[in-house]
Amino acid sequence: MEKLKYGIIGCGEIAYWQAKGIARTDNSVITACMDVNKDYAGKFGKVNNCRIYSDVSGICKDPDVDAVIVCLPHFLHKPVALECAKAGKHIVMEKPIATTLADADEIILACKSAGVKLAIPYVNRYRPEVQKAKELIEKGVLGKIVYLQIQDMALKPESYWTMGWDKVVTTDWRASKAKAGGGAMLMNCSHYIDFFYFMTGLRAERVSAEYDTYATKIEVEDLMTILIRFKGGATGVVQSSSMLPGKFENVHRIAGTEGQIMLTSPLKVFVTKDSDGLKANEWNTVALETPDEQGSYLRKRFFELFSEAVLKNTQVPISGEDARVALEVVLKGYEAADRKQVVTL
Ligand SMILES: NC(=O)c1ccc[n+]([C@@H]2O[C@H](COP(=O)([O-])OP(=O)(O)OC[C@H]3O[C@@H](n4cnc5c(N)ncnc54)[C@H](O)[C@@H]3O)[C@@H](O)[C@H]2O)c1
Repeated sequence: MEKLKYGIIGCGEIAYWQAKGIARTDNSVITACMDVNKDYAGKFGKVNNCRIYSDVSGICKDPDVDAVIVCLPHFLHKPVALECAKAGKHIVMEKPIATTLADADEIILACKSAGVKLAIPYVNRYRPEVQKAKELIEKGVLGKIVYLQIQDMALKPESYWTMGWDKVVTTDWRASKAKAGGGAMLMNCSHYIDFFYFMTGLRAERVSAEYDTYATKIEVEDLMTILIRFKGGATGVVQSSSMLPGKFENVHRIAGTEGQIMLTSPLKVFVTKDSDGLKANEWNTVALETPDEQGSYLRKRFFELFSEAVLKNTQVPISGEDARVALEVVLKGYEAADRKQVVTL
């Protein structure tokens, strides 16, 4: 099978997960990697048996690289995307696409002008519970959607801010407002805002919000709540934190006039009418397949689709415009909190 050849830019935590996902596909392969830190690039190149570069221009000139995967601190997303697009490389841009809407638009436009494909790996869309919930929502079992509850309340260890979860490299960008653009809401919760958009198609009309940094020595927020009014009338609340002690029982919830889904695994569904094998007026438990090693499974799904889109010149799985939706909710949330006002999108 023909394989799309990828160059990884930034050999930190997420690069290793991307590589694990790609290794599980039949149509994708990593041929090169690059990092400003030669040790990090060297280690990644050795583990993944690929050519090693220490500058972006090197990877851009490599004819054996069809697409790049940008796994860099947020503030570097735009300059690197512009350089790679100009060099004719297709781009997988880690989330968030950028730290401002103007930068996101510039990246999207640069890729269009250069005729290269752009996608953002919001891979949680491929979780079995998300796929099933989307199917049920599209069949109309919930009636009219009126309420979304997005919860990502976590406790991150202090080491997260310099070494991520896996401690594969040490970097300084996560705690910096200028380099990261935001904290828990932008870095992590944007995944969930994205998959709620994927499941429901709902677009925010206006937001109000509050955020602060309560317990961590960082410039970005460690707790934030956004209240949303969606176009068409639904409301929603997004809660995100990286500092809450104790195990918070997060539940993502979608409620409509005729039912409710709790996005757990197995999925819990309540409906007011019998439909699609669901019994009325009781909580139904919907069993789901549980992929082995979910982290690499989700990325495998994404790269299979992105590589196919490039090789067959079809639509990419999650476009720049798709990724801009979650970014806008988060950035308008920061703006609403800073201005102490309701902000329209
Ligand atoms: N999809 C997910 O679930 C997920 C999880 C973690 C991170 N991410 C995203 O992936 C991106 C990278 O995050 P990470 O956790 O891998 O960060 P990281 O700090 O672990 O790694 C970043 C790497 O970039 C390198 N780097 C810094 N400046 C560079 C430059 N100018 N040129 C080349 N390399 C440079 C660093 O040396 C480091 O190796 C971010 O956008 C982050 O939000 C996504």
